[in-house]
Amino acid sequence: MKKITFSNSKGGVGKTTLSINFAQILSSVGKKVLVIDIDPQANISRYFLKNEYVSNDKIMSWFRDSGIEEISDSILKTDIKNIDIVPAWRELNSKGSIEISQESYSEMKLKFNLDKYNKLLGDVYDFIIFDVHPSFNNILLNVLIAVDLIITPIEPQIFSVEGIETMLLPLKKTVYETRKINPNFIEPKHYFIINKATKGKEHLSIISKFLEMKEIKQKILETTIPSNIKRQKELNAKEEIKVTEKNPFFKLANELAEKELI
Ligand SMILES: Nc1ncnc2c1ncn2[C@@H]1O[C@H](COP(=O)(O)OP(=O)(O)O)[C@@H](O)[C@H]1O
Ligand SMILES: [Mg+2]
Repeated sequence: MKKITFSNSKGGVGKTTLSINFAQILSSVGKKVLVIDIDPQANISRYFLKNEYVSNDKIMSWFRDSGIEEISDSILKTDIKNIDIVPAWRELNSKGSIEISQESYSEMKLKFNLDKYNKLLGDVYDFIIFDVHPSFNNILLNVLIAVDLIITPIEPQIFSVEGIETMLLPLKKTVYETRKINPNFIEPKHYFIINKATKGKEHLSIISKFLEMKEIKQKILETTIPSNIKRQKELNAKEEIKVTEKNPFFKLANELAEKELI
C-alpha cells in the first residue's frame, strides 16, 4: 500500500485536480484507492460524494489513538468502483489541529496509525491519496511525515517556486527530529510535477529555469499535466476514464512505477 500526497503550500496549483484524476486512473486499472480529504474546504469530498457529503469529525480517528473500528467507521464508499473516501471535516484545521497539538508526538499521530494498521488497510487498499490544504500546520505535517511520496505540483510561472521552501523547511526539521526518535524512519520521497503546462516558449524557458535550481533539479517528473484538463465541475465523477497511453495520468502512473516510487 502506497501513500501519496500532491502537496504545495500554495492554493490553486492543482492539488485536488491531480488527486482526483490520479485516483480515477488508478481505480480504472483495478487498483483500490482510499482518498482522505484533509482539506476543510472539502472539494474532493464534494466531488466524490456529491450531495451526500456531510462534514463530520470522524477523520479525527486517524489522528487519535484509535481502534480499527473507529478508523473503518470514518470510511465511506463512493459511486466509483474501487474508490473509497474519508470525507473532510470543516473544523479540522481549527478544533482538530488544536486537539492534536496538546498530545506528545503530535505530528506523528497519523503515521503511528498507518503503521499500526498497515496490514489491515493494505489488505483492502493499494493506495491512499491525501488531498491537503495549503496552509502549513500540524495536520499537514502529519500527512507529510506519513506518506511515501510527496508530489508538488508547480505551474510554469516563476513565482510558483515560492512556497516550496515554506513547505520543505518544517518538513526537514521534523524528519530530523523523527530520526532521533526512530533511526529507521524513512523520509518520504519528494518530486515535482509541472501542471497546466503548455508548449509555449515562455513556459519552456521557465521550466529550464526550474531545472537550474538545486533543490528541484532531477526531482521534476518527465510527465507534465497539460492545461486543458476539464474543470472539476464539468467532470462527472461517474464518467469512466478512458485509459489510453496518451492520458497524462496514465503516463504519470507509469513513470512512478518505472522509478519504483509506487
Ligand atoms: N491541468 C489543468 N488544466 C486545467 N485546469 C486546471 C488544471 N489543474 C487545475 N486546474 C484548475 O485550476 C483550479 C485550481 O485547481 P485545484 O485542483 O482546485 O487546486 P488546489 O487544490 O491546489 O487548490 C481549478 O479550477 C481547476 O479546475
Ligand atoms: Mg484543493
